[in-house]
Amino acid sequence: MLTAPAVTTNSMIEPAMFQQALSRLAAGTTVVTVMDDNGIKMGLTATAVTSVSLEPPMLLVCINANSQTIKPLQAGRPFVVNFLSQSQQKIATQFASKTGNKFAGVLYYTSENDGIHLANVLSSVECTPEHIYPGGDHWIIVGRVQDIQLGCDPNPLVYYRGQFL
Ligand SMILES: Cc1cc2nc3c(=O)[nH]c(=O)nc-3n(C[C@H](O)[C@H](O)[C@H](O)COP(=O)(O)O)c2cc1C
Repeated sequence: MLTAPAVTTNSMIEPAMFQQALSRLAAGTTVVTVMDDNGIKMGLTATAVTSVSLEPPMLLVCINANSQTIKPLQAGRPFVVNFLSQSQQKIATQFASKTGNKFAGVLYYTSENDGIHLANVLSSVECTPEHIYPGGDHWIIVGRVQDIQLGCDPNPLVYYRGQFL
């Protein structure tokens, strides 16, 4: 017999409760990088990344409206979703920070379209923003894929219940 899941009868969902529920979904960890019009490199750690369409190839990433990285994305700048390997937890922590030079000690190369591809990742997918939708306190950026680089490392950096595995 199925046991009913615990449900809250409140119409107001507590953010912490929602966060806990969603933390049960194991997620691959990415770093989204973008260069602004002045050549300033920006980026953040993101797990809210999903494939959208195969033909044409599209993906989406949800970015907090308070993120510094949102501005160049809203301005239509190309961005790269870098899928981190298990050995890159330090990079994930560095790009989740609000301060300091996030790119310090990080190897990367820049494509001819200003896409910033981090080295030694599982793969990196370069996109141009195609649609931007409001999503509560986040923006949903749908990107059209322009270039793909595949790495050799098979081990992903998984984030689950508030921890890297
Ligand atoms: C594991 C992990 C996953 C995260 N996923 C997201 C995400 O999907 N979207 C987002 O906007 N922030 C996410 N964050 C938070 C940002 O990385 C963090 O707020 C960062 O400091 C924003 O940097 P910025 O303001 O320079 O853009 C995540 C943080 C961690 C540690």
